[in-house]
This record gives sequence, structure tokens and C-alpha cells, in this order.
Amino acid sequence: MKKYQPINPKLTRFIHGADYNPDQWLDYPEILAEDLRLMNLANCNAVSVGIFAWAALEPEEGRFEFAWLDRIMDQLAENGIYAILATPSAARPAWLSQKYPEVLRVEADRRRILHGNRHNHCYTSPVYREKVLTINTKLAERYKDHPALLVWHVSNEYGGECHCELCQEKFREWLRHKYQTLKALNDAWWTAFWSHTYTDWSQIESPAPHGEGSNHGLALDWKRFVTHQTLDFFRHECKPLKAITPDVPVTTNFMGTYPGLDYWKFADALDVVSWDSYPRWHGRKPDTRTAAETAFVHDLNRSLKRGKPFMLMESTPSMTNWQEVAKLKRPGMHLLSSLQAVAHGADTVQYFQWRKGRGGSEKFHGAVVDHVGHERTRVFQDVAAVGAVLKGLDPVVGTTVEPEVALIFDWENRWALEDAQGPRQEKKYEETCHRHYYPFWSQGIPVDVINADCDFSRYRLLIAPMLYMVRPGVAERISRFVADGGTFVATYWSGIVDEHDRCFLGGFPGPLRKVLGIWAEEIDALYDGEVNYVVMTAENSLGLTGVYQARELCDLIHLEGAETLGVYKEDFYAGRPAVTVNRFGKGEAYYLASRNEDQFLEDFYARLIDKIKIKRVLPVKPPTGVTAQVRTDGVRDFVFILNFTAEQQAVDLGGEGGKNLLTGEVAQGQIQLDPYGWIILERKKA
Ligand code: GLA
Ligand code: ZN
Repeated sequence: MKKYQPINPKLTRFIHGADYNPDQWLDYPEILAEDLRLMNLANCNAVSVGIFAWAALEPEEGRFEFAWLDRIMDQLAENGIYAILATPSAARPAWLSQKYPEVLRVEADRRRILHGNRHNHCYTSPVYREKVLTINTKLAERYKDHPALLVWHVSNEYGGECHCELCQEKFREWLRHKYQTLKALNDAWWTAFWSHTYTDWSQIESPAPHGEGSNHGLALDWKRFVTHQTLDFFRHECKPLKAITPDVPVTTNFMGTYPGLDYWKFADALDVVSWDSYPRWHGRKPDTRTAAETAFVHDLNRSLKRGKPFMLMESTPSMTNWQEVAKLKRPGMHLLSSLQAVAHGADTVQYFQWRKGRGGSEKFHGAVVDHVGHERTRVFQDVAAVGAVLKGLDPVVGTTVEPEVALIFDWENRWALEDAQGPRQEKKYEETCHRHYYPFWSQGIPVDVINADCDFSRYRLLIAPMLYMVRPGVAERISRFVADGGTFVATYWSGIVDEHDRCFLGGFPGPLRKVLGIWAEEIDALYDGEVNYVVMTAENSLGLTGVYQARELCDLIHLEGAETLGVYKEDFYAGRPAVTVNRFGKGEAYYLASRNEDQFLEDFYARLIDKIKIKRVLPVKPPTGVTAQVRTDGVRDFVFILNFTAEQQAVDLGGEGGKNLLTGEVAQGQIQLDPYGWIILERKKA
């Protein structure tokens, strides 16, 4: 019983392929012919075409050249390869910028950019919108019945913002619609501060380095507006695609936890979520941490559509040339990191890029086909091996992940939190979320990464690190979740501001005060290197013992019904509660008042997992650096055990083990995983 249809029912297998730029090679027919042979050899079944091809498609205003793309599409189809066809708005021809300068973005300093680079158009410009609409319509009309057409790849990595007059006007319009009256806006933004009260809508300007930079309400609304306007542009791009090819799924590729856009707002507008993943494998951080952080983003992308499989639209087959140090993936890492995406819910493994270009800034970026031009390279063979493995995973297509645990990573919260001055300038929100996620990854427990607007009732454990902003309704839903028997974990610096970044009056953590059973009176900030300690109290209900380091932030709280599990050891707040639990209805709400060392989080969550009986994928915790994840079709579980260390690891499968999905052999008891090794087991749904 499959949970989801394949991304496009035309192709019922895993999608494997890369960004393909034939428009760079139109004068090299022998290379274009060779590409097709190599795609088959690499076990690729789909390529993303035309992402930056506008100049080749419309070399002069109104003169369209589709013959080359016709040929490519036909040849792909003849060779059994599908096209993830792009709309070209991410980079535009020079004639367009020259004739219509309004399409060029204006920076925050109000300087209009010159033509060049990419990802830099104004999202409001009517001319740009019109030109995009024309070319998207032509593409959709021309290829609507083409057998190769599989998915629409709309634009590329939307990002950035435009401060031009057209965008300012739209911003003011958006604000008028939101607030109706200037009085309401002034209240929401607390503009009496420094005499920033607005008396006319036309006085409002987006934040600027030489203008407004101190109004957090404005900054927050500007960020919301940028998301709104980008999404509006995306919907505009989709109109002809949806009208002409209603059955072809539409996506746009996200950039992980890119701070500039609230991807949650896009989720409903996409048919399938896709993202571009470029971890720094073998970098300064241990691969174990890099693996968990990458897993976190995969989980976020899966959670955006409530568990629907996503696309790994881009990843590098070897090195990523724009990173400070473009290290090669060690043998085994390419297959492992590709299967990691699959383990967390990807139904595709795709790359940037198919073939290294001869010029331009990405000529040294990893690619399936190197400048040498043939298949006898390590990287090509690695890619072909991924394709071969994916062919053996048909039963996994369309399956999902059903975590009992959710972690809130919320864009609006992050915007507000990071803008705040104090208690420390560096807030480390994302890092803190990673640190709370890691214990679950290392225990082999799937997690959804959600935002504060999601439905909590499907989970048993809800974690909200640094939930500084509590929007209307969120505290009520958290309280209901706990009252109904859920377990909630919150930390220091939570429940501070409302949706406008205005502080809650009457005591922090504001609307979460009741469910947590505490009042946070003050917060102490520690310098780097300074420590306090949390001493666990005798016979605390989690059975934690010992002393842990507390660093950077220490909330000074009062109990209002909660019970103390640990206290501070030093300073004028020695003896005051540092870890608490409040029994609320049928559930419990924990408060971690300080930022504690990782060992605390590992021990705390390990006890909590046991106490409330959260299911591990394997009965026994895997060794450090190894994780177990699971996808399910409701009847069968597909267990992925992945070793992110350069050493062999013994893993205890416990229980019944399972059947190796690729070989059919039964696996039980203790198994050995090679360095960067993995195994995929099928078993009855747990
Ligand atoms: C991004 C872009 C690609 C390419 C890669 C290189 O993800 O979408 O066009 O530039 O980065 O890593
Ligand atoms: Zn603009």
C-alpha cells in the first residue's frame, strides 16, 4: 500500500540525473551525441534542461529559437531519458536588461545593479513578469505533449530582494492591506521609539544601511513581504504551466535553510518540494555532525509537504567549487550521501552538473562528465553505481516517514531572534536546533522538522529550541498538545515576543508560562569560555545524575508549578532551577533554562526517549557516526543503516533483523558496515 504516487506517474522509479546545459554546447554536435551515450552508461533517467538557456531560446526580443531544444528533447525521449524542463527566469539575456533597466534589481543601498551574474531580477517589474510569462507560455505550448516532459523546474534558487521603487510601492500596498490603518502599523512596529512614527504611507521605505535599520517590526514585515513577493512571482511563472500542462508537476529548487525566504509559505504552491544539497563532507566538522545537519535539512524538506517524498534536485558528484576548500568526496561518500537523501524521503538523486563547462565560474565544479570527456573516471563510475543501486530500490518510491518526534525550526522566529540586540549578539538559532536534533539522529530516531504553524497532534514529542516568537494560537496549540498527553521541550529565551516582535507583558515566557509552569525573570549572558554548571538533583524523575556545563545563556527562572530536575551550581543564582518539568494535563513540559553542553542533550533526550517510549528504528542505539532511518509504505518498513565514519562499524540489528533489499539475504544479529558503508533492509512495518 503506497502512500504517495511517483512524482510523475510516467516514471515509477527513482529519478537519477543532473543539470544539463546543452545550450553551452550547441557548436559541439559530437559532444551532444556523446552525452546521450554517457547518460545511459551513468544509469541516468532524467536531466534538468534549459535552466539558464534564455539567451539561446530568445536571442533577440520576440525571436524564439526552439529548434535546438526540440532536438534535445526528441533525442532524450529516444534514449529513454526524461526532461525536467526549466523556465529560464533565473538569468536573462543582455538585451532584456539593456532595453528594460527596470528588470535590474536595486540593492538595499538603493544602487541599481548592472547586467551580469544571475538570480538578480526584480520580482515586481511588470516588464520582467510579462517577458517571463511569454517564454513560459511558449515552452509549455511547445512541449506540452512531448514524451520527455516530466517535471517543471521553475526558475532556479529564488533568493535575494529588490528595493526598487516598484517594490517599495508593492511593499506599501502589502502593508496597507495587512494593517488597514497607519495607527495599527505604528502600534505593531512600536514606532514611537526614536520618534519613528509614520504619518503617511509614502514615508515607509524598506530597511537600508543608510536608512531605517532599528525598527524590528519593519524588518520582520519586509522579510515577510520578500517571501510574499517572491511567491507571487513564482505563482505568476506557474500560471501558463498549470493552464497548459495541468498534469505536469511543478517545483522550484530550495536552498536548505536559506534565511531569505520562508519556504513554508511556498509549500502549498508546489506539487513537489526540491532542494539543492552541498554539505562540506570531510571538512572542519566531523562527518558525523555534517551528516546529522544534512539529515536535518532533508527532514525539513520532507516535512514541508507533511511527509511527501521530495526531490534532491542538486548535489555534487565530487567537489563543490565555490566552497573555501573544494574537497573531493572520499570513495564511498557519494553513494552514502545519495542514499542518505533517499533514507530521509527523497525520490530522486540529481546533480549539479552533468558536464563541466569549458568556461565560466563553474567550470571546475563537480560533474558527472569531466573535461576529459569519457566514462573512465572515478566520479563517473561513482555516479553510475548510484544509478545501479537506485534501480534496485523500486519498492521505496513513494514511501514516507512517520516520526513520533518533531522539532520546530521556524523562519519568522529566526528572523526576529537574529535581529534582537541582546542577550548575546550571536544567537546560534540554527546551530541550537542542530544540537537538539543530533541525539535523535544518533539514536536512529526519525524526526520531522516543522514550523510553529504545523499540526502538533500527530507527534508524541515536540521540541522547540529558542521559540522567541510565539504567534497567536501557537501557545494554545502547544498547551493542548501537552494536555492531551504530549511531551514538550522548550529552552531559555522562549516566549519573549509576539508576531510583531513586541515583547509580551506580564512575564516571560509569555503565553507559554502556564504550560511550562515557570516564570523567567532575567537572562544572564556569559562570555565565550565562561561556564556555569547544572547539577542534577537527587532522584529527579528522569534519573539523570552528575554535573553538566552551561554556557552562553542562563535563564533565571521561578517555579510556578513545575518541578526542579537540575539547579545551577555557581554564581549568584547557584541553587536556582536550571532544568524543570511541569505536569500539565496528561502530558509534561520540560524547560531547559541554560544552553548546556552536548553531553547533557544526549543524556537528557536518551532518558526522555526511554521514559516516554519513543521507538528507535533499531532496538539498540547504533555506534557513534552510524544512524538508522526508516521509510514505510504502511505495510513494509525500509530501514537504512548508514555509516558516516571512515572505519568499519559493527551494528546490532537486535530483534528480527530484516531482508537485504538488494540481495534478498536475511540479515540478523550483528552486522559489519564498511567505512562509509550502508545496508537497506526490508521488514514488516514496526
Ligand atoms: C546552485 C545552483 C546551480 C549551481 C550550483 C553549484 O545550487 O542552483 O546552478 O550554481 O549551485 O554548486
Ligand atoms: Zn524591484
